[in-house]
Amino acid sequence: MSIGIENLLVTGGCGFIGSNFIHYLLAREDFHGRIVNVDALTYAGNPDNLKGLATNDQGRYVFVRADICDLEAMKRIFDEYGIDAVSHFAAESHVDRSIKRPESFIFSNIVGTFNLLETARRRGDSFRLFHHISTDEVYGSLGPTGLFTEETPYRPNSPYSASKAASDHLVRAYHETFGLPTTLSNCSNNYGPYQFPEKLIPLMVLNALEEKPLPIYGDGKNVRDWLYVTDHCDAIWTIMNRGRRGETYNVGGAAEMENIAIVGMILDILDEIRPRENGRSRRDLITYVKDRPGHDRRYAIDFSKLQERLGWRPHESFATGLRKTVSWYVENRDWTERVRSGAYQEWIDEQYGE
Ligand code: NAD
Ligand code: DAU
Repeated sequence: MSIGIENLLVTGGCGFIGSNFIHYLLAREDFHGRIVNVDALTYAGNPDNLKGLATNDQGRYVFVRADICDLEAMKRIFDEYGIDAVSHFAAESHVDRSIKRPESFIFSNIVGTFNLLETARRRGDSFRLFHHISTDEVYGSLGPTGLFTEETPYRPNSPYSASKAASDHLVRAYHETFGLPTTLSNCSNNYGPYQFPEKLIPLMVLNALEEKPLPIYGDGKNVRDWLYVTDHCDAIWTIMNRGRRGETYNVGGAAEMENIAIVGMILDILDEIRPRENGRSRRDLITYVKDRPGHDRRYAIDFSKLQERLGWRPHESFATGLRKTVSWYVENRDWTERVRSGAYQEWIDEQYGE
């Protein structure tokens, strides 16, 4: 089913979803091309996520450290590597950071996306596809019922989601105005291996293992719709190969959960596989804290378009996916210790002398 991409630019490939996507794609039998991973290596870019690839690539994987805000660098990379398709993950992704310091969200998410679209457009007919990875947060917040569809109006509530909404509009405009072959996916909360421990699930797992407080925003009853990261990678590849150009597809995990329920499930798994020395439950670590400003109450995704037209559906249930994920963070203490201590940035210092 592959569209025969030769040189795929993956932006943000050292981040959580991007690195999972690179592992996923290199293992697929229907992808024969080369991956060029362009990442600025911000705090969220972790070379450990792709350990081993740089030396074991057989020419199928190249890493280039570059900032998508640098238009000249993007033009050079597209020319040097003959880029014919893009999977665009690179972005500032954490809502709390966008509330404290929104500037980098405007540059990376909006200007960076513009630079890539503009560079792709200039490659003319040799360019095959620009796939933009976006979020369900562009749709705003739901009440107790209903689902986001591709027709739901955009109502972003945080600087993060507003910047992603702007980038989505640019992608749409480049298709409508210039005929750039694009596809766009808006997906719900991802979880799985290699997620930076500022996001809810890895933060709670690591804090619990380290006997630190587990901060629950507000009443803990905000709802997210959780998607296992490999299911997301599979959805992206399906859309890239079979999605209609110019169209948007929602991606969800059919797993709506209140935050407090997730934290309870994580603690139950940990208490079972890594019991505390005193044998007591870790629930005493739960600490209710001040709510996030503008905190969206509920997200839930209708992914029937993707399911019915392209045949994709999520394979992982939340219960199995969460157990796998918690176990991964428990078993990969080298990764978690290096990310918590900041040692993951040593490679960057060695390579780039910072
Ligand atoms: P992440 O924060 O883990 O990784 C982002 C990556 O982008 C990092 O490697 C970082 O170094 C790189 N990057 C940031 N700014 C850059 C720039 N200016 N130039 C080059 N590289 C840059 O993010 P993630 O969770 O993997 O999310 C990937 C994409 O998926 C984002 O576009 C995000 O909006 C979207 N998304 C994420 C989720 C989720 O639950 N994590 C859900 C829906 C959509
Ligand atoms: O919905 C897709 C989005 O999901 C992506 O676009 C974002 O990039 C991604 O970060 C994620 O955004 P959220 O804000 O939903 O994820 P986060 O892990 O930060 O928070 C999940 C929920 O948990 C949210 O309701 C806030 C709450 N929370 C989060 C943290 C970090 C807490 O209660 N305590 C915390 O310490």
